[in-house]
Amino acid sequence: PKSRRSKEFICTISDDRGEEAHYCGYPISSVATPDTGFTIGDVMSILWFKKRYPRWAVDFLETVLKTVADHGPAVSGAHNAKVTARAGKDVISSLIAGLLTIGPRFGGAIDGAAKYFKYAEDNKLSPKEFLAYMKKEGVPIPGIGHRIKSLKNPDLRVEGLKKFAKENFPSTPLLDYALTVEQLTTSKKENLILNVDGTIGILMVDMWRSLAYSDEEIDVFIDAGALNAFFILGRSIGFIGHILDEKRLAMPMYRHPMDDILYDVQKAPEL
Ligand code: ACO
Ligand code: LMR
Repeated sequence: PKSRRSKEFICTISDDRGEEAHYCGYPISSVATPDTGFTIGDVMSILWFKKRYPRWAVDFLETVLKTVADHGPAVSGAHNAKVTARAGKDVISSLIAGLLTIGPRFGGAIDGAAKYFKYAEDNKLSPKEFLAYMKKEGVPIPGIGHRIKSLKNPDLRVEGLKKFAKENFPSTPLLDYALTVEQLTTSKKENLILNVDGTIGILMVDMWRSLAYSDEEIDVFIDAGALNAFFILGRSIGFIGHILDEKRLAMPMYRHPMDDILYDVQKAPEL
């Protein structure tokens, strides 16, 4: 038998050999034009999850992208992108500067929320037991809390996502559980709401369960960071908007006002 050279890379999502490249078996021409019925959500579902999802799930993926596309200029990532653009950097550098802020506090709590809430529900922890468990873990509950949103100033993005899920998902057991946790956390402090990251992470788990994925498959997605990827992709739209805004406005380099900095440096001992 002929010996086959072992391959350095494996690709299971797309193929660019032949006359036309394919996304997961679909020629690009069959997904790219509006008349074929594929939307950007369908393209995401085949390239990210290798399956064409039913309409309600594709609509949910797109709802998430549209929901997180921007949240104004003051948030960590938009601020970083704007400062970088004003330092004269190009779109890609400014975008990366913005993206680098996405993490456990800002926009990147989606995988963590899915992981911990799923763990709590799988293990039938009461909200009180879950809070005690997280306290022992020593991390703030991912998906809970917001700087400016609270019971009195509800996050309408969260309301929109919950409404979409109630109207379109076959069932939402993890969301229902998370809302019982939110009742307890907001009774302690009114800004400890289920935030937009938490709602997305939890609803993605409900979506995948409704699509008959196994727990192991869902855990692989979460461990890979697939859920934060929705925020990364969606918010890139807003970051690019802010960068173009800076270029259009021809804003000068930014220097932070010194009177807004507490300088607290000791004199070197030998001086
Ligand atoms: N779980 C438990 N306790 C919390 C949580 C949480 N998720 N968030 C805040 N707290 C508590 C703090 O321990 C602190 O308690 P203390 O006053 O007894 O010390 C109090 O609430 C205030 O905490 P801060 O960190 O000052 O709250 P802040 O309003 O600055 O934080 C933040 C907002 C960063 C979002 C925070 O709630 C958090 O880390 N949440 C978890 C991460 C998360 O979900 N981030 C995504 C937010 S949505 C988005 O970025 C698109
Ligand atoms: C966001 O979507 O960027 C936020 O929820 C964070 C914020 O503080 O507004």
